[in-house]
Amino acid sequence: MIENLFEYDSVMLEEGGNALKILDQTRLPSLESFITLKSESDFIDAVVKLKVRGAPAIGICAAYGIGIILKNLNLKSIPLVIEEFKRIKNSLSQTRPTAVNLTNALDRIERRFNEVLEIPDISIEGIYRELLTEADAIKKEDILSNLSIAKNGLTLLKPGYKILTHCNAGHLAVSRYGTALAPVYLAKSLGWDIEVFACETRPLLQGARLTAFELTKSKIYVTLLCDNMVSSLMSAGEINAVITGCDRIALNGDTANKIGTSAIAIMAKYYKVPFYIAGPSTTIDKNSVTGDNFVIEQRSPDEVTDLWYSERMAPVGVKVYNPAFDITKAELISAIITEKGIFKFPFDFQGK
Ligand code: MRU
Repeated sequence: MIENLFEYDSVMLEEGGNALKILDQTRLPSLESFITLKSESDFIDAVVKLKVRGAPAIGICAAYGIGIILKNLNLKSIPLVIEEFKRIKNSLSQTRPTAVNLTNALDRIERRFNEVLEIPDISIEGIYRELLTEADAIKKEDILSNLSIAKNGLTLLKPGYKILTHCNAGHLAVSRYGTALAPVYLAKSLGWDIEVFACETRPLLQGARLTAFELTKSKIYVTLLCDNMVSSLMSAGEINAVITGCDRIALNGDTANKIGTSAIAIMAKYYKVPFYIAGPSTTIDKNSVTGDNFVIEQRSPDEVTDLWYSERMAPVGVKVYNPAFDITKAELISAIITEKGIFKFPFDFQGK
């Protein structure tokens, strides 16, 4: 058991650049187990099965992935590297369709790849080195961005606040520190008493398994509740603010996040609790004016019927509805906290 949460990142490049070391989040909270990803199938399996998860973390993982996968293929010519680059980029970008950070990170790596190909006499090893350096830059920028989100988010909070969050938008979901949880960690480091209520987040239990884990490990007072207990908690006047993460933000502020987020936003409006979204500007989808056409990932029925039970909890053959995300309408969001500042409705991200 590692004592301090910040002693590791959920995504780390191995010495020599031949593998990516990730914390296998499917084993938490009972086991802090690290695995290494080297091949295309390792990366696809890790992202699809949520061994690594959270929009920024999967973007960073895929960014490193291209360089590492290519390196381990031992290709002998630049035309072959170009062909394989395109194929791998395409297959990684399809692993999880909703988080725009994944596409944004892969597009950025592709832009760097095209620039590097223009360098006279660049070697195949040189290309891989440049790709991994670009992935390092994406991770470093994400860390800085989370520190700014922490500072910006803190201006919306006060000592003694009780904050509700959904899913996991903490250290485990990003490069370091988190988005929704970053202001909470900053508040704690300043000695504020701050309390978090974590929704368990059916069906994959990111709130129970991951948010409760990382906050407990960081000695932040956390209370776990089932997703259907939010109204009861808010009506009792127990929540001062909601902060969640995000997977894709449209230009008008419509936001895709973990399934259940929009219901919390509707309840927050009813109970007059401020509802905040926190995320890096890399989560803004500059090609979507609204969230109406966001692709929502649909996941396997067994996550609802079987996964966490010792015996199946629904009749065999029952039809299951299992979207991984929903869209919260912009007008329900009190503010969106990014590294560039705090945006309020009506949102204007032009030039951001
Ligand atoms: O399916 P997941 O666990 O990847 O979903 C994660 C979320 O919905 C997070 O809130 C979001 O990605 C932001 S992580 C900083």
